[in-house]
Amino acid sequence: MSTTNPPPPPPKLKTRILTIPPSSPLGSWSSPNSLQTWTLPPTPLIPPSLTLAATALTTSTASSFSTPVAFPTETVYGLGADATSSTAVKGIYTAKGRPSDNPLIVHVSDLSMLSTLSTIPEIYHELISKFWPGPLTILLPVPTSGQLLAPEVTAGLTTFGARMPDSPLARALIQLVGKPLAAPSANASTRPSPTKAVHVLEDLEGKIELILDGGDCAVGVESTVVDGLCDPPVVLRPGGVGIEEIRQVKGWKGVVKGYKDRSEVGEGHKPRAPGMKYKHYSPRARVVLFEGHKPVNVGKELEGGGQKKVGVIRTGEWEGLVGETEGRIESEEGGFAVRQGSLRDEEGKELATVLDVDLGRDVKGVAHGLFAALRELDRLGADIIFVEGVSDGDDIAAAVMNRLRKAASEIRP
Ligand code: TXA
Ligand code: MG
Repeated sequence: MSTTNPPPPPPKLKTRILTIPPSSPLGSWSSPNSLQTWTLPPTPLIPPSLTLAATALTTSTASSFSTPVAFPTETVYGLGADATSSTAVKGIYTAKGRPSDNPLIVHVSDLSMLSTLSTIPEIYHELISKFWPGPLTILLPVPTSGQLLAPEVTAGLTTFGARMPDSPLARALIQLVGKPLAAPSANASTRPSPTKAVHVLEDLEGKIELILDGGDCAVGVESTVVDGLCDPPVVLRPGGVGIEEIRQVKGWKGVVKGYKDRSEVGEGHKPRAPGMKYKHYSPRARVVLFEGHKPVNVGKELEGGGQKKVGVIRTGEWEGLVGETEGRIESEEGGFAVRQGSLRDEEGKELATVLDVDLGRDVKGVAHGLFAALRELDRLGADIIFVEGVSDGDDIAAAVMNRLRKAASEIRP
């Protein structure tokens, strides 16, 4: 009788973080006010780590085994691979544990690279001149001639998402590779997106070889995804560019929201529990989102729950539970500090440890720190995280609330 052995586990890779110093020469636009050509610095000036990453992205596609490279963009860190190579793109899905029916965004360094894939329909012209390079992804028809995309990029769709990142480091990497890079966010599937190189390491250590560290991502939430190929045009995912800004552009006045959102709090203000819903952007801790700006009574919330460590993320109205001077754990360029204190009952008995984060009132600051705060509270061992929602608006607040609603196990009015 023959027995089949299970396939061997994939080899554990040594993961290295390569830092690109902020002052590194990364190139420039060939002519001002034109996104046509991104010109790299002379070869000897290009940071060696960048060349190494580009070489890894180019050569790995020739072999049957291929690992993607993580790199910073202005939104979140991406996990990149040559978008024209099936072997390379499959490596992304393997490293992330991502379902293969979820298409990837194709990143280009300049318009001349994009023109190898597609001509750009008129509807996008003004949008591109306003928001590129930047946190906006546009859907284009999948190329059927010229340079082709690996079918794994588009997951069988007739369109693909294209984006020109604002990060010069990202554009320099893409230009060095000389091919468009398919790149989802560089988190493990279901986890919050990474906004620092260490976040990528937390999720993908042993699964990829290289992480380029270009510091914190400025925006902190992913790009806005729009489809201008249909009428009316649609926002498929809220992100770094607000829908109110998009509405100002010729042809986009009637843009509609194509994502399920708004308050998902049930009828009659019943709390919503997504239950088995596919998890996304989630830390290990249970997230409870409060959509209103009513104060939360953490002690009452914890009654009978048995949670020992509670994270609180504040965005403006909630009172701090921990004094300004108590246990400051971390203060960093991420823009927030975590303060540790105790929640006590009237007799002074400790009910729980509180990890308190104030992301501030400015919604751009909230977006910038959101994923990092969720990750940091996880790292510090929070069992449950209470989050104060921001007011729904057609700016970046829509992206913040969209991600929070997906991360939450429970939503309260
Ligand atoms: O800011 C960003 O967009 C980051 C950075 C790395 O560029 N990337 C990113 O990729 O967020 P990812 O894979 O995590 O999210 C891509 C989103 C998904 O919601 C996907 O469904 C949508 O874009 N998408 C991509 N191609 C699409 C298509 N052809 N039609 C509809 N949605 C598409
Ligand atoms: Mg993602």
